[in-house]
Amino acid sequence: MNILLLGSGGREHALAWKIAQSPLCSRLCISPGNSGTALHGQNVSISPTDFEALKQFCLAESIDMVVVGPEEPLVRGVWDFFRQDPALQHIMVIGPSAAGAQLEGSKAYAKQFMQEYGIPTATYREFDAAQLEEGIAYIGAHSTPVVLKADGLAAGKGVLICSTVEQAQDEFRQMLAGKFGQASTRVVVEEFLTGIEFSVFVLTDGRSWVLLPEAKDYKRIGEGDTGLNTGGMGAVSPVPFADDALMRKVRQRIIEPTIHGIQARGMAYTGFIFFGLINVSGEPYVIEYNCRLGDPETEVVLPRLRSDLVALFQAAGEGLLHKVPIEIDPRTAATIVLVSGGYPEAYEKGKVIRGLEAVQNHLIFHAGAKRTEDGQIRTDGGRVLALTALGYSVEETLAHAREAAEQIQFEGKYYRRDIGLDLLQASSKAG
Ligand code: AMP
Ligand code: GLY
Repeated sequence: MNILLLGSGGREHALAWKIAQSPLCSRLCISPGNSGTALHGQNVSISPTDFEALKQFCLAESIDMVVVGPEEPLVRGVWDFFRQDPALQHIMVIGPSAAGAQLEGSKAYAKQFMQEYGIPTATYREFDAAQLEEGIAYIGAHSTPVVLKADGLAAGKGVLICSTVEQAQDEFRQMLAGKFGQASTRVVVEEFLTGIEFSVFVLTDGRSWVLLPEAKDYKRIGEGDTGLNTGGMGAVSPVPFADDALMRKVRQRIIEPTIHGIQARGMAYTGFIFFGLINVSGEPYVIEYNCRLGDPETEVVLPRLRSDLVALFQAAGEGLLHKVPIEIDPRTAATIVLVSGGYPEAYEKGKVIRGLEAVQNHLIFHAGAKRTEDGQIRTDGGRVLALTALGYSVEETLAHAREAAEQIQFEGKYYRRDIGLDLLQASSKAG
């Protein structure tokens, strides 16, 4: 099978690494890819949102399957584009329709969906500019902190947690006045939930689904979960507190009703669902849905998946997922993201990355990295590399990931040395 993978981050390197291992994959192309994906296939410089160029490439290169990494092409309707064009209908697209991608693309849509299907989530109200005064009054009577969410995609910046009502009212006005452009013409105001976040992933064909390993992500730039939010500084899988009892609730109260809702609304959905969850005293709630895998969660989820990912994609595309057994590596996987100095604010690019060959026993996933004409691999983004180790104990795995993080050098390199340390106590208690 000829496969085209869309995207260019650490998630896509991990996907390319896993897809290329499948005997079902005869050729892999990645658009646009990075220096890491180029180790497993051919990078082609097409933007994942240039659907017309993707069409020409797929036809010229006899592509049989398109795997979509990031959310933007999905929210913009890449699945629908392929489905509606008779020349492209034979190509299997792994990723939901634009309607399905609304679960990520519109927070208000996701909240209405959860409410309709009885899925536990923070209580909320949504407002548009015509309801400004009503929203101000609603916030005035709200408990603090108040969570404000821009309805649309806002590059991960659209959620504000306000500690006072006055701050929330001020931000709310600014959001409706266009603080996040089109994305905040509608604003969700919701209750703040206190607990520990974790992420659960399924691959579904819209009817049946398979559960992938869960993961915990570390979003803040600073050690001890301090400072600005980032795309993700590291991840660990499995999550020790996601025990059988919690995961049973996740399946019964969250995954099954979500799949039921997808069917009831008649959404075409062949792809991943990423459930961003919070454990509130043993009860799982949904913080958000994403219509794709997470980054850097993928860099720990896929190394633990023993099954053939392409066989799973094929089964999903044929509606036969219920027939495929899924095998998970029981070991712990941890990934540490090396970032450019200054990230998530301004940072420089183009720094030579040294020491990649020194990392022998661990996995290196390239994110914001590219090979330049002089043959060097250089930094090309905020998040540069994700270094993944596997091990039999959380402690040993974290130590290996930190060891790998030390072996690689580039000017301005920064990483969090405390990724996963909060899980150690929990795992040793669990024995
Ligand atoms: P989102 O973009 O929806 O994932 O939100 C970004 C981050 O804001 C989440 O990962 C949480 O840490 C936090 N957050 C969002 N909604 C809530 C909530 N209702 N209660 C507490 N924290 C929240
Ligand atoms: N790591 C969070 C995300 O991929 O959205």
